[in-house]
Amino acid sequence: MPPKPQIAIVGPGRLGGALSLALTEAGYRVSEVISRNTPDSRKRAQEIARAIGSVATTPKTSKLDSHLIWLCVPDREISAVARALSHSVGWKGKIAFHSSGALASDELDLLRRRGAAVASVHPMMTFVRGSIPSLKGVAFALEGDAKAIRLARKITRDLGGDAFSISKTNKIAYHAWGGFSSPLLVAMLVTAERVAKAAGLSAAQARKIMLPIVRQTLANYSALGPAGAFSGPIVRGDVPVVQKHLRTLQKIPRAKEVYGALAQAALEYLPARNRKGLKKLLAG
Ligand SMILES: NC(=O)c1ccc[n+]([C@@H]2O[C@H](COP(=O)([O-])OP(=O)(O)OC[C@H]3O[C@@H](n4cnc5c(N)ncnc54)[C@H](OP(=O)(O)O)[C@@H]3O)[C@@H](O)[C@H]2O)c1
Repeated sequence: MPPKPQIAIVGPGRLGGALSLALTEAGYRVSEVISRNTPDSRKRAQEIARAIGSVATTPKTSKLDSHLIWLCVPDREISAVARALSHSVGWKGKIAFHSSGALASDELDLLRRRGAAVASVHPMMTFVRGSIPSLKGVAFALEGDAKAIRLARKITRDLGGDAFSISKTNKIAYHAWGGFSSPLLVAMLVTAERVAKAAGLSAAQARKIMLPIVRQTLANYSALGPAGAFSGPIVRGDVPVVQKHLRTLQKIPRAKEVYGALAQAALEYLPARNRKGLKKLLAG
């Protein structure tokens, strides 16, 4: 195998786009960006291909002559795409990855049976339209066949990431943890915006005012750990204030439930005074 084998990316979406750029910057040649055969999908693949000097293809026109085929399609599509590609070329000696955090490499079993070595390779990072994150220091969870894992480790290193092994059985918990780290964090912040609205602030004002405290909280969490970063009425054991919060939050859809669930987690895992009084209030 050449030190930096050619790679075909299947799925010109959020991950596929960011990965194509990062791999190219790391010295890998992305031989083709394979999309569905619809005008919008082809356009997305063409934009990525143009940016990295590659070509946009569809399953029908693709060559699939790369050593590594990296499926960046939604989780529910992975096995169907593997099935569709399984008869296009000989898979003996090839490697295939998918990047689902929740699903194991077994989704690529059809390719495995045709001679490919397969792995699930999941970067613990958020990829959204309009933002290309750095992969430096990003953890990549790897699981699958030894040969595929060896290549995944090398690519992760070349991207500046840190590879670690995950077992099939731990993938769902791992993925739920990832949910807390980004999408549910955003859900918490958008709920906070609704609470700010009740205090007379627009969403834009709320975002501007919240960001410094949110950033400082993350900095404190990083430097001091969760207990050291924790402030507010729960650590002070201030039952009357928490009671008033709950009363006001009743008027905002979901806010009271989110507050209640997070406050109960705080009582379970973080320092708090008057734990008994707070527990009783939150249970009521
Ligand atoms: N986004 C993240 O933060 C993130 C992070 C880590 C891992 N992942 C994983 O990365 C994978 C892709 O997620 P994503 O967020 O990048 O999804 P996405 O933005 O929806 O992109 C998926 C892409 O796959 C294409 N696609 C769907 N079916 C296809 C097919 N049959 N043949 C070729 N292309 C097909 C879609 O085409 P259309 O444009 O036609 O819909 C779309 O371009 C998932 O396994 C996900 O779990 C995502």
